[in-house]
Amino acid sequence: MSEPLRIALAGLGTVGAGVIRLIEANAALIARRAGRPLQVTVVSARDRNKDRGIDLSPYAWEDDMVIMGERADVDVVVELVGGSDGPALALARTTIEAGKGLVTANKAMIAHHGLELAQKAEAAAVPLKFEAAVAGGIPVIKGLREGAAANEFSRVYGILNGTCNYILSTMEDTGRDFAAVLAEAQAKGYAEADPAFDIEGTDAAHKLSILAAIAYGAKIDFAAVDTTGISKILAADIAQADSLGYVIRLIGMASTENSNGTERLFQRVQPHLVPFDHPLAHVDGATNAVVAEGNFSGRLLFQGAGAGDGPTASAVVADLIDIAREMERGGEAGAPFSVPVAELVAMDRADTGHRMGRSYIRFVVADRPGVLAEITAAMRDAGVSIESLIQKGRHDEDGEVLVAMVTHEGPESAVAEAVRMLEGSASLTRAPLVMHILAD
Ligand SMILES: NC(=O)c1ccc[n+]([C@@H]2O[C@H](COP(=O)([O-])OP(=O)(O)OC[C@H]3O[C@@H](n4cnc5c(N)ncnc54)[C@H](OP(=O)(O)O)[C@@H]3O)[C@@H](O)[C@H]2O)c1
Repeated sequence: MSEPLRIALAGLGTVGAGVIRLIEANAALIARRAGRPLQVTVVSARDRNKDRGIDLSPYAWEDDMVIMGERADVDVVVELVGGSDGPALALARTTIEAGKGLVTANKAMIAHHGLELAQKAEAAAVPLKFEAAVAGGIPVIKGLREGAAANEFSRVYGILNGTCNYILSTMEDTGRDFAAVLAEAQAKGYAEADPAFDIEGTDAAHKLSILAAIAYGAKIDFAAVDTTGISKILAADIAQADSLGYVIRLIGMASTENSNGTERLFQRVQPHLVPFDHPLAHVDGATNAVVAEGNFSGRLLFQGAGAGDGPTASAVVADLIDIAREMERGGEAGAPFSVPVAELVAMDRADTGHRMGRSYIRFVVADRPGVLAEITAAMRDAGVSIESLIQKGRHDEDGEVLVAMVTHEGPESAVAEAVRMLEGSASLTRAPLVMHILAD
């Protein structure tokens, strides 16, 4: 068997410690599959003395993680520190510049700097891999880049954030409101102390922008993801959705659309109503799932744990095994985004205005006569056709009433216009909430 692949591991938190445990536990089978052993030679984190529940004595310690890639005892660096910039980015740059491969789980860094890093990696002919950055343990990047590489994708969409999915499915199971479920998720460690990145949809948007680049050969454009989180969803919305035959899930969706002869990229993260009979309606708790609709493969569903030490380490180590195999064969590293950066297309953002679909619109209104007429008049004037409307008793002691409606298929712009017409109305006691209905 060949010489070991020598690994520098930066970051020894949840994922970093998981990688060490996995490489130790499955050493023999990994060596057989990779054609050579994987050997961690040096590690780094902030605090050398922290108890991490793993024995670090076999590994050298590096205080300055940024220079790990320059060490002579390292073939490849694994970055598990996190953050779009800071030490993670500095480490990624120095590693590639030193001619070493990089494996990372850092979706924020790839979403913001992936093109620059991929360009550097291609120029240096070194591998850059980030399977764990999207949907944790689910091999969805490999799935799109390799298994389904022959297909044109009509849509790629899914549940990309486990924290949001846990909160939404717990609200569904318990009937409790968002704030109470979030507090419980934080206490159980399912949500960060600062949950904004997750609940406002940013984390899902990072992942979606990476998937979209791979599925459509487009330059990553995280800034163009139209992002709405889940914090405005009420327990009453979940109950209404249920009575209409839907669950609510935060869905990230990418597709391309042709407008006036130009291919444009649509990227949106938004809570959706998902019909009970859609496979994503049954994705509960912290699970992630991605659907890719290929023109020859048909609908592919990738589902599994989107986070956690074991699943995320599984994806990181799979990337290391790939690198060991590629180096063993003296092979090319391959373009990180499937297509070389120079050939990725800078696609304009799709105009969501003429998208067609059905929507759920919820108003919380003052309990007085004429309010419903005002809302339905705005719908009529904007050209929105209402399929069903539910008016539900008192929302709370203040005498608020919940009015929820589902529209017929029509332009999204009409729904937006109706909501705009009602802006500032004294009848509304909260801002309206619009959620699109996931089309089959
Ligand atoms: N957790 C998951 O389930 C999951 C899933 C998919 C992807 N990811 C991604 O994986 C990466 C790591 O996540 P994690 O959950 O393992 O994070 P974590 O538990 O917070 O661990 C981060 C590690 O980085 C070290 N670190 C942080 N800032 C540093 C600095 N300025 N200088 C040196 N070391 C520093 C920490 O050192 P100390 O331990 O000494 O403080 C810690 O060991 C992130 O990019 C995350 O988005 C995580």
